[in-house]
Amino acid sequence: MADATTMRIFAVANQKGGVGKTTTTISLGAALAKNGQRVLVVDLDPQGNATTGLGVDGRRFERSVYDVLLNDVPMVDIVEPTGFNNLFVAPATLDLAGVEQELTSVISRELRLKRALASVEGDFDFVFMDCPPSLGLITINAFAAATEILVPVQTEFYALEGLTQLQRIVDLVQRNLNPDLAISTVVLTMYDSRNTLSIDVAAEVRRHFPNELCKTVIPRTVRLAEAPSFGLPITEFDPNSKGAKAYRALALEIMTEEIVNG
Ligand SMILES: Nc1ncnc2c1ncn2[C@@H]1O[C@H](COP(=O)(O)OP(=O)(O)OP(=O)(O)O)[C@@H](O)[C@H]1O
Ligand SMILES: [Mg+2]
Repeated sequence: MADATTMRIFAVANQKGGVGKTTTTISLGAALAKNGQRVLVVDLDPQGNATTGLGVDGRRFERSVYDVLLNDVPMVDIVEPTGFNNLFVAPATLDLAGVEQELTSVISRELRLKRALASVEGDFDFVFMDCPPSLGLITINAFAAATEILVPVQTEFYALEGLTQLQRIVDLVQRNLNPDLAISTVVLTMYDSRNTLSIDVAAEVRRHFPNELCKTVIPRTVRLAEAPSFGLPITEFDPNSKGAKAYRALALEIMTEEIVNG
């Protein structure tokens, strides 16, 4: 079991929609769990895609991430096992959609998640918080609680648009709430090696994030899009697919990065 100092807490964030945040959260989490790492996925998106994508029906539970953010329920009380070894989920339910509004008048509204996570300190090696596609209070809570930010970047024309705004929010949170926060990891998603645009975008992202950009790129493949409707991570749905191999490689890269960084 991990000790308190080694729990890596990632906010998986990009305010742009549909870039692969949830797919990366589920697939990377599952690949790390398969590697013997204890992993918690925290579903911060009212759509609940990370929850259902892991084969868990959020509607079955009385309490969810909503109660963690608004009702002082400790994270440990809502953690559920998935069907996969070492892999756990803090489920989201639809009522999370109202949280941005409801949080505005709450004391310490930016630090709710951080406080709640203290209840699982040391229980996991990795925590991945799947953020919604916005930079509202839910994402700020994730940034305040995180030790690192992982940004999935879809390799398409406007890929870098919005990253400046994202960086600005990260800087604000770093100055005011979480001094150690940084974008540590950038992952290219939906990469098409036959497409010169993908290659150009990759070069551009590398210029901006030379040390943060992962060597592993996630290819565009229909198997990755199919897996969630079966409630299975790609590593279980089709372990020999290109997508599963890519996320396994990413998992190894992220595990060794820890060793490299100290
Ligand atoms: N590498 C990939 N190849 C093909 N399809 C993919 C890939 N990654 C994700 N998808 C599909 O693209 C869509 C968006 O992916 P995903 O839900 O992971 O993005 P997201 O950033 O979480 O979206 P949102 O902002 O809505 O939360 C989904 O239908 C998903 O199945
Ligand atoms: Mg998502």
